[in-house]
Amino acid sequence: MTVTIVGSQLGDEGKGGIVDLYGDAADVVARYQGGDNAGHTVVEGGEEYKLSLVPSGAIRGKVGVLGNGCVVNPRTLFDEIDTLRERGLDPDVRVAQRAHAILPYHRVLDGIEEEAKSDSDLDAGTTGRGIGPTYEDKAGRRGVRIGDLLDPETLRDRLEYVVPQKRALVEDVYGMEAGEEFDIDALHEEFSEYGRRLRENDMTVNAGEFLTDHVEAGDNVMFEGAQGTSIDIDHGIYPYVTSSNPTAGGACTGTGVGPTTIGQGEIIGIVKAYLSRVGTGPLPTELKGDDESEDLAEYIREEGGEYGTVTGRPRRVGWLDMPMLRHAARTSGFTGIAVNHLDVLGGLDEVKVGHTYTLDGEETETMPPTTERWGDCDPTYRTFDGWPDADWEAVAADGYDALPDNAQAYLDYISDELDTPVYAVGIGPGRDETIVLDRPF
Ligand code: IMP
Repeated sequence: MTVTIVGSQLGDEGKGGIVDLYGDAADVVARYQGGDNAGHTVVEGGEEYKLSLVPSGAIRGKVGVLGNGCVVNPRTLFDEIDTLRERGLDPDVRVAQRAHAILPYHRVLDGIEEEAKSDSDLDAGTTGRGIGPTYEDKAGRRGVRIGDLLDPETLRDRLEYVVPQKRALVEDVYGMEAGEEFDIDALHEEFSEYGRRLRENDMTVNAGEFLTDHVEAGDNVMFEGAQGTSIDIDHGIYPYVTSSNPTAGGACTGTGVGPTTIGQGEIIGIVKAYLSRVGTGPLPTELKGDDESEDLAEYIREEGGEYGTVTGRPRRVGWLDMPMLRHAARTSGFTGIAVNHLDVLGGLDEVKVGHTYTLDGEETETMPPTTERWGDCDPTYRTFDGWPDADWEAVAADGYDALPDNAQAYLDYISDELDTPVYAVGIGPGRDETIVLDRPF
C-alpha cells in the first residue's frame, strides 16, 4: 500500500519526524517534488544527519527515490551521499531519469531575480537553491534532465542551446557579468561526470515503473512531500510560493504512480500546532504589531527552534490558521492528520486559533484564491485555555490519555473542524516523543 505525507501549512511542519516514524514500516520512500530547498534532520544511532536531498529513509536501509517531479542538484546529492559514506552509511538512492537537474546557473539566476523583485516586494524569500529557475526551464522545455546527464552528447546539445540564453539574460537584461556558471565546457565536464557516477552506480530509474512494481509486489511505499500546501505553486499564496506541488496530487504527477493507486492509500496531513513562515507575504494570524505579540512570537520561536533548517533565518510565527487547514484538507483529501509541536505551546495561559476570517464584512471559512485578498482577511479567533508545560518524554511514554485535558481539547477541535482523525501527536523532537494513535501501514 501507499502512504502520502503532505505539509498542510507553510512547510516546516515537522514532516521529517512523521516520515521517520511511519517510514519504519515502508520499503521504499519517494520524494515527489522540490529539491535541496527542503531540509531535514535525522537522528540515527545517536548520530545527527542534516539532509536536504537524500530521503531520510535511505539512511535507515530503505530505498530512497527522487521522483520525476523533483529538481535534483547533483552536487548536493553526491556531497550528501559522500558525507554519509564517510560516516559509515551506504544509502540506496535512485533518481528518476525524468527529474530535472539544477545547474549552477539556476542558483545564480535565483539570486538575481530575487534581488530584482525585492524593489517591488515581490521576492518570495527563496532558499536560493535555484528551484524556481529550474522548474521554469522544465516548463519552458529547455531543461536538462537527469537522463540527459547519462549521455554526454545529449548533454552537450542541451547546454549549447540553453546556456547562451542564460548568459544573455544575465548580461543583456540584468547588465551583470556571467561567471563560470555559464561556461558550457566546464558545465559539460562536471555534469557528464555526475552522469558517469549515476550510471556506474545504477542509480537512475524510470520512477513510475519502479514504484508501481514495488506497490504491485506488495511493498509499502511512502510518498514524502516537501514544503507545504500554502506554498504550493497552484494552491498556495502565489507568488510567495515554491515552484512545485507539495499537495497530494503532486505525488501522482511527480512519480508516475496513478491517482487510483495513491488514492487507495492513506494521505496524512502534517499540521504544526501554530504557524511558522520563512518567506515573505501576508500572514493573517501572525504574532506581531505590539509588544505582547512580539514577545509571544519570540517565546514560541525559541521554544520551537523556529529557524530555517536550510538558511538559518528566524521564522515568522503566528497562531494556527483554520481556514488554511480546511483548504489543505480539501486540496489533498487527508485521511488522517499528525499534529506536531504541541509541547511548544505548553506553559501559555491561553492559546488562540484563527477560526474563520472576516473579509469585506463577511465571515469565511477558507482561504480566498488570491494572496492580496488573503492579506485583507481579519482572523476571528477562538481562545483555548492553555496547558502546562510537562515532562513530555513521560507523557509520550504514557500515551494520549496522559496529555493535559486542554491540549486534548485543542486536538479534538482541529480534528472535528477537519473531519479527520488524529493519527499522531508530536510533543518533542526525539523519535520517542510522538504519541501514535494510528499506524497507516
Ligand atoms: P524556493 O523553494 O527556494 O524557490 O522558495 C520559495 C518559497 O518557498 C520561499 O518563501 C521559501 O521560504 C519557501 N520554502 C522553500 N522550501 C521550504 C521549506 O522546506 N520549508 C519552508 N519554506 C520553504
